[in-house]
Amino acid sequence: MVSAAPASQRAAKRRSLVVGNWKMNGSAASNEALLAALKAAPLGDAEVSVCVPAVYLHDVADSLHGGAVHWGAQDCSSHESGAYTGEISAAMLAEFGCCHVIVGHSERRALHGESDALVAKKAAMALKHGLVPILCVGETLAEREAGQTEAVVGRQLGAAIELLDKRIDGVVIAYEPVWAIGTGKTASPAEAQAVHAFLRKTLAAAGAASGSLRILYGGSVKADNAAQLFAESDIDGGLIGGASLKAADFIAICRAAR
Ligand code: PGA
Repeated sequence: MVSAAPASQRAAKRRSLVVGNWKMNGSAASNEALLAALKAAPLGDAEVSVCVPAVYLHDVADSLHGGAVHWGAQDCSSHESGAYTGEISAAMLAEFGCCHVIVGHSERRALHGESDALVAKKAAMALKHGLVPILCVGETLAEREAGQTEAVVGRQLGAAIELLDKRIDGVVIAYEPVWAIGTGKTASPAEAQAVHAFLRKTLAAAGAASGSLRILYGGSVKADNAAQLFAESDIDGGLIGGASLKAADFIAICRAAR
């Protein structure tokens, strides 16, 4: 087990980041109430962002413009433009002031058959248009039980490193064990830290700026477990699903990140 360095030691190098992943949730009315609460609350020292369904980007940009909370999307096309019905390009997201875009979320890998290579291409397209890709990696329960966690996340990250090379330094990585997403089962701080340390070591071995690259944890992060997770030396914040839809919970999670 890798022990946690004091949070202050980490903060000097990497500012924490907390990102809400709204998934396919929300409505004009509920978004407005949620954003109003976020804007009114002291969120602490972490950078905060919300990744919202694309159809709400206009309203969200309008609401958050000029404030402390950034916004982004949950996916982008690997193509520049053209005959890709239903897809949204990174250039379009940039036009709406997006700062972040999630790529390779496990729900898209599982439900939409997204491969490691496709996810890497999406990250490249995001970077090309000035967005910060939040590249998700994570193993299933079966893979963890078979002792394949490092092999799986190493392969997923490896595809991005191979395509992006030095550009990997512009990416945020999110470690999201599939078995912890939306299940209420969180990886223990030590379990998560071990994988984060492995990811950082993998980045360092590839010549990336591993000391400044942020690695978020995601999977059933709640107001009552966030502080312990974020205290680990290689956990630089979180990607928050369900709890990002409840203002009080999300605010508490943001404030737990230092
Ligand atoms: P969860 O989702 O916090 O609801 O587990 C996290 C995610 O899927 O990004």
